[in-house]
Amino acid sequence: MTDFLDRCRALTGANHVLTAADDMAPYLTDWRGRTTGNALAVIRPADANEVAAIVKLCADARVPVVPQGGNTGLVAGSVPDRSGTAVVLSLKRLNRIRAIDPLNNTITVDAGCILEEVQNAATAAGRLFPLSLAAEGSCTIGGNLATNAGGTAVLRYGNMRELCLGLEVVTPQGEKWDGLRGLRKDNTGYDLRDLYIGAEGTLGIITGAVLKLFPQPKACLTALAALRTQDDAVALLASAQALCGAALTGFELMSQFSLALVTKHFPDMRLPFTEEHPQYALLEISDSESEEHATATLEALMSEAMERDLVTDAVVASSIAQSRALWNLREHITLAQAAEGKHIKHDVSIPISDIGRFIGETDNLLAQRFPGCRMLVFGHLGDGNLHYNVSAPEGMNDAQFIEQQEAVNRVVHDSVHRFAGSISAEHGLGELKRDEIRRYKSDTELRLMGVIKQALDPLGLMNPGKVL
Ligand code: FAD
Ligand code: MLT
Ligand code: ZN
Repeated sequence: MTDFLDRCRALTGANHVLTAADDMAPYLTDWRGRTTGNALAVIRPADANEVAAIVKLCADARVPVVPQGGNTGLVAGSVPDRSGTAVVLSLKRLNRIRAIDPLNNTITVDAGCILEEVQNAATAAGRLFPLSLAAEGSCTIGGNLATNAGGTAVLRYGNMRELCLGLEVVTPQGEKWDGLRGLRKDNTGYDLRDLYIGAEGTLGIITGAVLKLFPQPKACLTALAALRTQDDAVALLASAQALCGAALTGFELMSQFSLALVTKHFPDMRLPFTEEHPQYALLEISDSESEEHATATLEALMSEAMERDLVTDAVVASSIAQSRALWNLREHITLAQAAEGKHIKHDVSIPISDIGRFIGETDNLLAQRFPGCRMLVFGHLGDGNLHYNVSAPEGMNDAQFIEQQEAVNRVVHDSVHRFAGSISAEHGLGELKRDEIRRYKSDTELRLMGVIKQALDPLGLMNPGKVL
C-alpha cells in the first residue's frame, strides 16, 4: 500500500494525502457523531482529472473509495467502515463556479462547491438557485446530487434531480464522462444522469454539474400559523395552494415539542405568540408582482383560515429580518434535537391526504409499545415528507432507548409501508437504512438495483456497504 499511496501523492501533492489519525479524524465520523470508521488515507484531489487518476489507481490496487463532500449526510453514507481498507475521497477542493449562462438559466459548477456559494453566485447574476436546506453553509453540490437532496423549496422547484440538467462523472474505472449538457430536452437513450443522481456515490464520483436557475421573485414573504392538529395543517396547505398556486414555495410543519427544543437550546430565539400551540405551519410565498401583493395574499389566506377556525393565531412577517427569524426557528430544529441528546430519526413520505391518519396511528402504536416515548414531528408537509423522530421517555437514559432503535424503526417503517409511503424521502439510505430497505422493496426492484451496480462497478469499490 505504500506504493499506492506514493502514487497518489505524486498526483495530488503529499499534503493532500492525509494518513495521520488527527488529520483524518474529521473525515471519519458522520455529522450525527453516531458512526466512526477508519481509512487507509483521506485524499483531496484538486480537479476532475485528478479525481479520475486517483480512482484509476484505486481500481488497479483494488482500493475501495468513499466519496465525501461536506459530510453533512444523515444516514452514515459519507464515512468508511472500520476495516481501514478504503480511501475517503474528499471533493471539497473542487470548488470552482465554472460558468453562468443567464440566458439559458444555467450554472455550471464543480461538485465540491458549497451550496450557499452556488446560491450566492446565482443571486449575483440576478437569478435564483432554489435548493435550500439548513446545512447549506457546509453541504456540497456533489453531496446534494448524490443524495438527491430535497429541503424547503421542493414544493415549487422540485428536488435536486429536477434542478440538474447535466453531470460530469468519474466512473469506477477512472474514466471521465462529460455529460455537462445544459439542455431541457434530450431523449438520446438511457438517462445516465438520473442514474448517478441519488446513487450516494455507489456508481461513480460526480465531479461537475449543470444546474437550473430561475428568475428571482419580486418578493418573498413568510407567515407562521398556529394550529391545533396536523389535519388542520393539511387543510391549510390545500387552501394555500388554491389561493397562491405556484407562488407557494414552502410549507413546513413544526410540532410544539420541536420548537420548544429550539427555544430551550437557542434562548435568543422566540416564537411570536404569547401562548403555546400544538402545531405550527411556516409558509413562504414567492411573488412575481410585488411585496404589497405578497402581503395581501398571505393576510387574506390567514384571515380566511382563522374565520374557518383552522388557524388559531398567525403572524405575517413584515420585514426580511422577521422572515429570517421565522425561518431560523425551523432551521434550528435539527441542531436543537442533536443538542438535546440521542434520538431515533426517520425521514418518511406519505401521501399528503393520509398524513393525519399516519401520525395518529403511528403515535398510538409507539405509545403502546414504548410508554412515554416522545415523538418530535416536523418537516416538509407540502411534499408529504415528515421527519418523525422519536426520543427517550423523560428520565430514561438516551443510550438505553437507542438500543431499541430496531424495534422503533419496525413500528414506524411498517406503518409507513401500510400507507404506501417511503422510508427515505430525502436523506438516502447510506449505511443506516441499507438493511431496512430490503424489507420494503420488492425482490424485482432489489434485483434490478443489484444488476445496475454490478454492471457499472463490477469490483464493488464505490462506497461499499452503502445503499445495497
Ligand atoms: P456528504 O454528507 O459528504 O455525502 C452524502 C452522500 O453523498 C454520501 O453517500 C457520499 O458518499 C456521497 N457523495 C458526496 N459527494 C459526492 C460526489 N461528489 N460524488 C458522488 N457521491 C458523493 N437533506 C435534505 O435532503 N433536506 C434537508 O432539508 C436537509 N437538512 C439538513 C439539515 C442539517 C442540519 C443537516 C446536518 C443535514 C441536512 N440534510 C438535509 C442532509 C444533508 O445535508 C444532505 O444530504 C446533503 O445533500 C449532503 O451533502 P454533503 O456534501 O454534506 O454530502
Ligand atoms: C430538515 O428538514 O431540517 C432536515 O432534513 C434535517 C433533519 O431531518 O433533521
Ligand atoms: Zn428535511
